[in-house]
Amino acid sequence: MANLVDEITKLKETRRAIILAHNYQRGEVQDIADYVGDSFGLSQKAVEADADVIVFCGVDFMAESAAILNPGKAVLNPAPEAGCPMARMITAADVRALKAQHPGAEVVCYVNSSADVKAESDVCCTSSNAVKVVNSLPGDEVIFVPDKNLAAYTQRFTGKEILPWHGYCPTHQLITAGDVLVAKMDHPGAEVLAHPECRPEVIDLADKVFSTDGMIKYAREAKNDLIIGTESGIIHRLKKENPGIRYYPLSSYTTCPNMKMNTLETVRDSLRDMRTEIRIPENIRIRAKKALDRMLEVGR
Ligand code: 13P
Ligand code: SF4
Repeated sequence: MANLVDEITKLKETRRAIILAHNYQRGEVQDIADYVGDSFGLSQKAVEADADVIVFCGVDFMAESAAILNPGKAVLNPAPEAGCPMARMITAADVRALKAQHPGAEVVCYVNSSADVKAESDVCCTSSNAVKVVNSLPGDEVIFVPDKNLAAYTQRFTGKEILPWHGYCPTHQLITAGDVLVAKMDHPGAEVLAHPECRPEVIDLADKVFSTDGMIKYAREAKNDLIIGTESGIIHRLKKENPGIRYYPLSSYTTCPNMKMNTLETVRDSLRDMRTEIRIPENIRIRAKKALDRMLEVGR
């Protein structure tokens, strides 16, 4: 492992590259990254990066977003087969059909979506700013794709009418209300943090609801142990940065297989062979960038 880390460090220098990794990546991949974060933070870092090459360790829509935002840089996805099943639950044609049905509505698209879907949308959002993005819109009717759970969560904090698509994250969908009740019994005094991709009944029982970076931030000040209602990869970072308390996964099924496809080997190979470079047709990229830029302007 030490050899691989050395190889990656040298290749990074030669290529003038930076490595961005999502909070769900394997611990060893997080440890060699220049920046680890949630979808919003990673998009911001991709824009700010002073580098010729961005190696993006996450799933495909994340690397795609970095490429949409950075036409002048080479964005490499070391595991191009790592997709987000939720992003595949809607197509650009579905969005066009929704727009035809609701001509007065604006389209908010969760970043967990393809470049084609982003190109059909007015503005993107992440789990950390969905409420702010929806409330920033001038109209009262909002088509929200593809996550029905994030749509339902956002509906709680807005007077606008949200028209949700029926997508969901298979990993978060596996977390049940029963898991929350059992975890609370097993760890009395611990607080339950849930990701807004969880089912509404899980959100109802959670003590707090955060994006993955929101959880990291909350843990910095937390006095109690935490029960973590999101993908288990985040526990590596929580323990590393805030070792004073204990962390329990909310369910034993919270692994996103796609997020685990990157390894030190895939990162090394990607830097060595400059693969796989993300390429997005320019007409799609320009339209998708508008939706992402508008999201970054709203902030979080
Ligand atoms: P975050 O933006 O909160 O990190 O969420 C990304 C994601 O894919 C959750 O499943
Ligand atoms: Fe997609 Fe869910 Fe995996 Fe996040 S955890 S990348 S939403 S499948």
